[in-house]
Amino acid sequence: MFTKQTIKDWDFKKTPRVLLRADYNVPIAAGKITDDYRVQQSLPTVQYLLKQKARLVIIAHLGRPSGPRDTANSLRPVAARLSKLLNQPVKFADDCIGPVAEKAANDLKPGEVLLLENLRFHPEEEKNDEKFAEGLARLGDVFVQDGFGVVHRAHASTDGVARLLPGVAGLLLEKEVDTITKVMEQPERPLMAIVGGAKIADKIDILHRFIEIADVVAIGGAMANTFLKAQGHDLGKSLVDIGEIPIAKDILKKAEQEAKKRKFIFYVPQDGVVAKSIDAKAKTRIVDWSTHTIAEIESYPKRPTAVSQDIGDDDMVLDVGPFSGSFMAGAMQLASTVVWNGTLGVTETNGLQGPIGPFAHGTELVIDALLGEFGHRPFSLVGGGDTVGYIQSRKLTDCFNHVSTGGGASLELMAGRTLPGVAVLKEKKHA
Ligand code: 3PG
Repeated sequence: MFTKQTIKDWDFKKTPRVLLRADYNVPIAAGKITDDYRVQQSLPTVQYLLKQKARLVIIAHLGRPSGPRDTANSLRPVAARLSKLLNQPVKFADDCIGPVAEKAANDLKPGEVLLLENLRFHPEEEKNDEKFAEGLARLGDVFVQDGFGVVHRAHASTDGVARLLPGVAGLLLEKEVDTITKVMEQPERPLMAIVGGAKIADKIDILHRFIEIADVVAIGGAMANTFLKAQGHDLGKSLVDIGEIPIAKDILKKAEQEAKKRKFIFYVPQDGVVAKSIDAKAKTRIVDWSTHTIAEIESYPKRPTAVSQDIGDDDMVLDVGPFSGSFMAGAMQLASTVVWNGTLGVTETNGLQGPIGPFAHGTELVIDALLGEFGHRPFSLVGGGDTVGYIQSRKLTDCFNHVSTGGGASLELMAGRTLPGVAVLKEKKHA
C-alpha cells in the first residue's frame, strides 16, 4: 500500500501556490514531441489541482543538456502540448529559478498553470544544491511530486525542495508505486517476467529479484546473446557484451540453483532470427541452438530439418526465433501476471510495408499473447523506454493493464530499492 500523503489528502485552499514536479522528459525531434505519453499521464494530477483553483507552477527536466541554453532541450514544446491536452493556456517562463520564474509564478491567478524552463539548464539541480532548492521552494507553498520517472534521482527538484516545503504525491506517482509494488510483493501467480533489452548490467538487480520471486523468467533482446555466449554458443557477429559474460554465468548459476529448489524456469531463447544487416530488406533465416541446461526445456520441440544450427561468421542474431517466441507466448497462457521489460529484437527497423519490421516478430508474439489473442489474458505490467516506445508506436499503450512512465525508476522500484523522491514525501496520517 502507498504510505505517503497524496494530493487527495491535502487542503489546497490553505496553500493555493502549488509547485508540481512532473517528468516531461519526452522525445523531441525538430521541435516536435514524438511521444507524449508522459505528458498525457500527468493530466489527472494537473486537472485535479486546477479544479482546486491552485496557482500551478510545474517544474521538469528534458534530456541531459550540455549547457545553460541548449535550445534542443527547451521545454517550450511541452508547454504547447500540455496546453492542447488541457484545452487551456499554459504559460511558459524562460528560467526555472530567480526573478523571471518568481515574477511569472506571482502573476498566476487561481486555476492558471505555468511551466518553467528545463531544471537541468542549472547544474545545481543534479547536485541537489541547497540554495537552488531554496530558490525552487520560493515558487510554492506546497510541493507535489508526480514525476515517477525521476524519483530514483536525489536532485534539488526531487529531494532538496521536498525538505523545504511539505511534499505530497500526485496521482500518477501513487498509481505507479502502488501497481509495481503490488506486482512485486503480492503478485497473482503464476508470475512470469520477460526481460529484454541490450545490457544485462542495466537489469542485473531485477534479474536477481525475478529469479527469487517469479515462476518463469524469459530472456530476449541483445542481452540474450550474452547469455547464449556464456552457455558456449557461437553467435557470429551478434552484439555480445564480452565484459558481461561473467555476470551472465552468475545469473545462470543462480537460476539453476533456484530450479532445483522449486518449480522454476529460466528461459534463454532456443532459436533466433539471423541476418547480415539490420536492414528491412536483409535476408533472414532461423538458427536453432536447442541445448538447454534446465530440464523442463528439454521437452520442447526438437529442431526440424529445415532449420539450421549453423551461424555464419558475419551473421547477427537480431530477434528471438519462432520456437522461443511460441514458448514465451505459451508460458503466458499459464501465467496470471506478466511483467515485461525490454523488447525481444531489433524493433527499431521498420517493415517495408508498415511498422512491423523483420526483427519485431518475437516482440509482436509477446504483445499478442499479453493482449489475449490466444485466449487467455494475464495482468500485464509493461516498462522500459524501448518497450514503451515500441507499443506507443503501435498505438497499443491503452491495451495493457499498466504501462509505466518510468525507465530507471521502475527498474529500481522492481528491484526493491528505496526511491529518494518518494521517501522524502509526507507519510499518511494514521486514523
Ligand atoms: C527518464 O527518462 O528515465 C527520466 O526522465 C529520468 O531521466 P534521467 O535518466 O536523465 O535522470
